[in-house]
Amino acid sequence: MKFATDWSTSAVIARREKYYAASQRKFQPYQKPLILKRGAGQYLWDEKDNRLIDLLAMNVCISVGHAHPDVVQAASEQAVALPHCTTMFYHPVPAHFAEELAATMPAGYDWVVHFTNSGAEAIDLALMMARTFTGHRDVVALQGGYHGPTYGAQSITGISGFRHDVGLPGNVQFAMSPNPYRGEFGDDIQRYLNALDNTIRFGSTGNLAAMIIEPVQGYVGIVPMPIGYIEGAAERIRAAGGVMIIDEVQAGFGRTGDSFWSFEQHNVVPDIVVAAKGIANGYPLGAVIARKHIAEPMADKFLFHTYGANPMSCAAGRAVLRVISEEQLQQNSKAVGEALVDGLRGLMDDHPNIGDVRGRGLMIAVELVKDRGSKAPATEETAIVFEQNRHHGLVSSKAGPERSVLRLVPPMCLAQSDVPTIVEAMDRSFAALK
Ligand SMILES: Cc1ncc(COP(=O)(O)O)c(C=O)c1O
Repeated sequence: MKFATDWSTSAVIARREKYYAASQRKFQPYQKPLILKRGAGQYLWDEKDNRLIDLLAMNVCISVGHAHPDVVQAASEQAVALPHCTTMFYHPVPAHFAEELAATMPAGYDWVVHFTNSGAEAIDLALMMARTFTGHRDVVALQGGYHGPTYGAQSITGISGFRHDVGLPGNVQFAMSPNPYRGEFGDDIQRYLNALDNTIRFGSTGNLAAMIIEPVQGYVGIVPMPIGYIEGAAERIRAAGGVMIIDEVQAGFGRTGDSFWSFEQHNVVPDIVVAAKGIANGYPLGAVIARKHIAEPMADKFLFHTYGANPMSCAAGRAVLRVISEEQLQQNSKAVGEALVDGLRGLMDDHPNIGDVRGRGLMIAVELVKDRGSKAPATEETAIVFEQNRHHGLVSSKAGPERSVLRLVPPMCLAQSDVPTIVEAMDRSFAALK
């Protein structure tokens, strides 16, 4: 059976405008909506068959490439056999995937997995787990962190545009983010750690449940945590009775190049890790990966995530792990990411609005400023370059509290041969500011 789908531009726009709720209609960044029809690898095609290089990866969900044949095959075979198996019944595929995820974690610890429907749900679960295990409620989060749209995840999100005045849960304190480019203390990690001490001493009860950190803060504009900060923070949090939760939803699965999990670059073994997005290359899934003794006190809590451990998504996830390894996508992220950062830095001579180009692997930011001295955020200029990028064949995204950062997080299969095309396209986009 085939359903009629009207692909005409005006009909696609009109139908969404009429039937989507206001809260879902809002997220539309372009002047003229972008309608996407198909994808392959790092490329997308719109409804008129124009090809674009995808530098957003569907908000970092496409880890190994759009419609990767191995992932499609694994998920399709599972869809034909049994598309869903509720978690009260047993199925081998999610259990295999849990074992394989556990094997990616630091050796010498017992890791267990709880699958959820999404990243935000996994974040909520991680908070519950930390609070149950420690018997404390206070959580420290970082300014600039993003953790999702649910009540729990919003409560620890440190960007006002993603926090809404709807009565968010309390027991959360925000610590200063160690942002080397914009932070008050520049790259002086010790001063950020002192500030964290003050947050704990003056803002909390002194007894913590957890601290949560994204090793590369994504939505605030790609801010990699400086080496030494997470390690120092973990010591302080544990001294106050809390556990360390690492949010790998954007930065995990080899994307940052030097390691499979981005926390591995920070000399710290987390207590709880949250993963989602790229975990299954676009099939919906989230996961909490925790040390067994920390997850154990939840045994008496009935928590039923209907589609958590969905076998189709887990089959896709198993294929993702294999493709990352077989196609060496972590190594590719590192090499192509470095080449792209180099190429983009090369544009700084000609384009004074580029204040900073930074990144880890294929999490890259081009931050726009009015001028490099004042670092005043160049919001309007970013909007222009963003629209121009589309015109020149690139899908990018605007990030940061002032929407003044171009966030580049392509599928990890982006090729070296794409780099000159991207740099030339960006060069032309920035030329529009002259
Ligand atoms: C770092 C981070 N954590 C958590 C989430 C929440 O994940 P989800 O959108 O799957 O609920 C996101 C989503 O953008 C994210 O970027």
